[in-house]
Parts: sequence; C-alpha cells; structure tokens
Amino acid sequence: MPKPKFITDRQELEKLAPMLNAPIKRQVFVCTGKSCSAVGGQEVMAEFDRILTEKGLRQGKESKGRNPMGEVVLTECGSIGFCSIGVAVMVYPDGTMYGQVQPEDAAEIVEEHLEKGSVVERLELIRL
Ligand code: FES
Repeated sequence: MPKPKFITDRQELEKLAPMLNAPIKRQVFVCTGKSCSAVGGQEVMAEFDRILTEKGLRQGKESKGRNPMGEVVLTECGSIGFCSIGVAVMVYPDGTMYGQVQPEDAAEIVEEHLEKGSVVERLELIRL
C-alpha cells in the first residue's frame, strides 16, 4: 500500500478538512458495541444526533443537515469496557464517562453538560 503524502500546508489541510476551522468545544462518543447495542446504543446515538442537529450544535457537513461551525463532534464508537452497564457515553475533553445512558437521558446531557458545562452526576461513572 502506498504511503499517503504528508501534508504540511495548513491551508491545504483546512481545505481538505473544513472541521479544522470549527469552534469545537467537545466530542461525544456513544458506544454502539455489541453489549451497548443490546440495551439501546443505536437509539442513544440517534437521540444525540437528533438533538444536537436540531440545536445546530452538531459539527458536520451542511449536506447532512449539520453545522460546519458546530461546537460538538458526535462519534459512534466500539466498546470501552463498560459493557455490563451501558449504554456508555464519553464526553471529551472533560473526561467524563457516563453509563446506563438511555435515549431519554440525551437531552439532559446535552443541556446540562454540553451547553451549561455541568456534569450529569446521576449517570457519571468516572472522570478522567
Ligand atoms: S459494548 Fe459498550 S462498553 Fe462494551
């Protein structure tokens, strides 16, 4: 496999990845691994997507209904080790790991944590 060209020009990097110019504050990972999916991982992911997109917070392509200048990156991820107490949700750079998250909890995490900066303690497992 050929190695990709290593790009050093910032303007070229920004052209190829416009998200580099977005005022991103946080990244939210939602686990859709096997165990979390069995207790609603996809539904939790869908609810974060819906709420963040409606509020214009989800960074992403306009063609996907997202905001290129959004403050939150939403990412689906695989298992992080809380398999028996999912759905696992992580918020970075805060280092907050939530467990037992259900779709109805997404609005509270968005409003309290992502918008106001207050961790939702009833769902928090650990803070890194
Ligand atoms: S499957 Fe989600 S933490 Fe393991």
